[in-house]
Amino acid sequence: MTKSSEEKSLFQEFENLLIKATNTANEGITISAMDQPDRPLIFINDGFERLTGYSKEDVVGKNCRFLQGEETDQAPIEQLRRAIRSGEQTTVELLNYKKDGTPFWNRLSITPLKDQNGMTTHYVGVQSDITELRETQRKLKAANEELELFQKKINFELDEARRVQNFILPTTHPTTSKIQFASLFEPVDQIGGDFFDIIDLGDGRYGVLIADVTGHGVPAALLTFMTSFAFKNIAIQSTSTAHVVSVTNEKLYNKMPRGSFITMFYAIYDANDKTLNFTQAGHPEGFVLRPAIKEVISLKSESPLVGAFSSKSVNYSEAKIQLQVGDKFLLYTDAILELWNRDEVMLNREEFISFLVDNAHLPIAELLESVKQFGLQYSGKETFNDDFTMVGFEVLK
Ligand SMILES: Cc1cc2nc3c(=O)[nH]c(=O)nc-3n(C[C@H](O)[C@H](O)[C@H](O)COP(=O)(O)O)c2cc1C
Repeated sequence: MTKSSEEKSLFQEFENLLIKATNTANEGITISAMDQPDRPLIFINDGFERLTGYSKEDVVGKNCRFLQGEETDQAPIEQLRRAIRSGEQTTVELLNYKKDGTPFWNRLSITPLKDQNGMTTHYVGVQSDITELRETQRKLKAANEELELFQKKINFELDEARRVQNFILPTTHPTTSKIQFASLFEPVDQIGGDFFDIIDLGDGRYGVLIADVTGHGVPAALLTFMTSFAFKNIAIQSTSTAHVVSVTNEKLYNKMPRGSFITMFYAIYDANDKTLNFTQAGHPEGFVLRPAIKEVISLKSESPLVGAFSSKSVNYSEAKIQLQVGDKFLLYTDAILELWNRDEVMLNREEFISFLVDNAHLPIAELLESVKQFGLQYSGKETFNDDFTMVGFEVLK
């Protein structure tokens, strides 16, 4: 064999390999001649035949636009036109039709082949059937839209629930020259499990309640409604804190989901003789701050939680303390006690009390605000991890 015939046979072998590889590809591979009238196809691979159902005899010599039909969008066609006019590569997704009329989504990429002068002589097109992919994308988009709608609906309902929950919180506090009330309420979720109440019981007596229901969100909110109504019904009729808590417990016991309970601290202050009666039911101790002697008095009656045991098996006790002008009475939920600083050290009771001693002189509203700031500073955070609620009053005269 001469050298040139040897080269020829090598070239032939390589060309055959290329054609074989091209025909094995799943995608359609096409070549259009740019220097012929109407830029016809001069080559299609087997993949194109499989994809479209058209044979080489059907299509070679024709412009590939025959794949387009009634529903084909004009925008990708315009993009192809523009790319071809300026000799650039482009990729589009467009609706095409197979020989038997079946529509399919075609991801078409066309790339120019240029001669040594930079003139585009041919274009190579690669066609992929992305019908399934488009269908999956469409379903995903529809599912996402549905999910968004659902999320909006839930958010709306949570906002509504919060609005309703706010109904059970007092919006204004009783005002009298003898006593000044203050409160702070910050749920971590849109709706939370903390609540408080201040009730004018008449004849210079006031009921002050703080309660914390297990959990957060909607289940906790529903329990707060139940608890608040059960409590208020009896609170307006009774002068004994132990009786009020006991009846509230009896009403809630059996109606609460298993594992749920409420901690509460209920006090009745009589402004006539400045006595405070209280029942502490599984809730953190209350405090009386006596700025005159820089003292903080702990209020405990150590009764069980509410809603978990039958009133027949538990006993709610009541304790009493004599208050003085200038005293501040303070109730809070456990968010302030369950604080960790950056070194993972939990705030201890002594630190909290010493803060209260140092700030006992502040007017009641400022005092509550300063406790909040103290808690946030301690944890180094901008918000609490748990619902944060405080209620209190100051004896004015
Ligand atoms: C190599 C190549 C492959 C092409 N393949 C397709 C195709 O598979 N489907 C299609 O709808 N258009 C295809 N086109 C685009 C059309 O041939 C044509 O360029 C387009 O419809 C815009 O030009 P027109 O205004 O002359 O129709 C291809 C174009 C080239 C250059």
